[in-house]
Amino acid sequence: MSNPQEMAFPRRKERFEVRRKESQDRKVLDEFFDHATLLAVSRLMHRGAFDTVDYPISTGKEGGVFRATKGSEYRAVKVYRIGNTTFRHLPPYTLEQLGRETSVGNFAGLISAWTRREHTILGQLTAAGVRVPKPHVHFRNVLVMEFIGIDGGAAPRLRDATIDDAAALYEDLVAQLSLMIRPGRLVHGDLSPWNVLYWEGKCVLIDVAQGIPADHPEARRLLDRDIANFVRFFKGLDFRVTKEEFLRAIGADHVGKRS
Ligand SMILES: Nc1ncnc2c1ncn2[C@@H]1O[C@H](COP(=O)(O)OP(=O)(O)O)[C@@H](O)[C@H]1O
Ligand SMILES: [Mg+2]
Repeated sequence: MSNPQEMAFPRRKERFEVRRKESQDRKVLDEFFDHATLLAVSRLMHRGAFDTVDYPISTGKEGGVFRATKGSEYRAVKVYRIGNTTFRHLPPYTLEQLGRETSVGNFAGLISAWTRREHTILGQLTAAGVRVPKPHVHFRNVLVMEFIGIDGGAAPRLRDATIDDAAALYEDLVAQLSLMIRPGRLVHGDLSPWNVLYWEGKCVLIDVAQGIPADHPEARRLLDRDIANFVRFFKGLDFRVTKEEFLRAIGADHVGKRS
């Protein structure tokens, strides 16, 4: 088998030789694609999940998201970093659940379980009709999903987007969250203008791994927090809605109880 790094980044050499920001790009790639991750990437490529990894869309302490190409389509590839930083900020309810799947000291096992969890929740939300990136496949710490973009560029986060019509955005968000609660029976748990993409005037919810079943005792508190974030965001757009109105509109009464 040829070198997985060259397979995953065939354009890397020419691209990086001509560009002055070479060392910076290389640093990002080398940092994320440790040996185990490169093997996971090449396994996914062999299975046909994508042909090439193109460029990083976002990199952070816990992971990175890359655009990839598959034939004439794009994909988003989310790579979780294998290390304990990913788990420093996890809410206890998720650790409970992950701990049932793998031992809590086994970081690689935990990351696999976390990646699988994001894939599963994206699938549940897709089935419920919520606008999220459709999940394709996952392996170890790598998740491949639908790329949400415009002309090959990634869609902006709501935080960075120019919102044309705040009232229409509110209606759309209410529709998505209502579907998420019923029939999806889930609460996002980390919803903010950073975790919603703005695509053709509509919202696409992302970053769902910490999602929580709507009948979990913690779910209502998390939903209240998610909605409070958005009440503030809409206020900044000069669109006034109270937290109570917002919660009523999405059917929050169905959260925290058995359906
Ligand atoms: N499916 C996707 N299509 C396009 N861009 C995406 C997609 N998923 C994530 N992104 C981009 O990557 C960023 C980080 O993704 P996210 O899932 O929020 O991970 P985290 O916040 O854990 O780093 C997002 O803010 C968004 O800009
Ligand atoms: Mg995020």
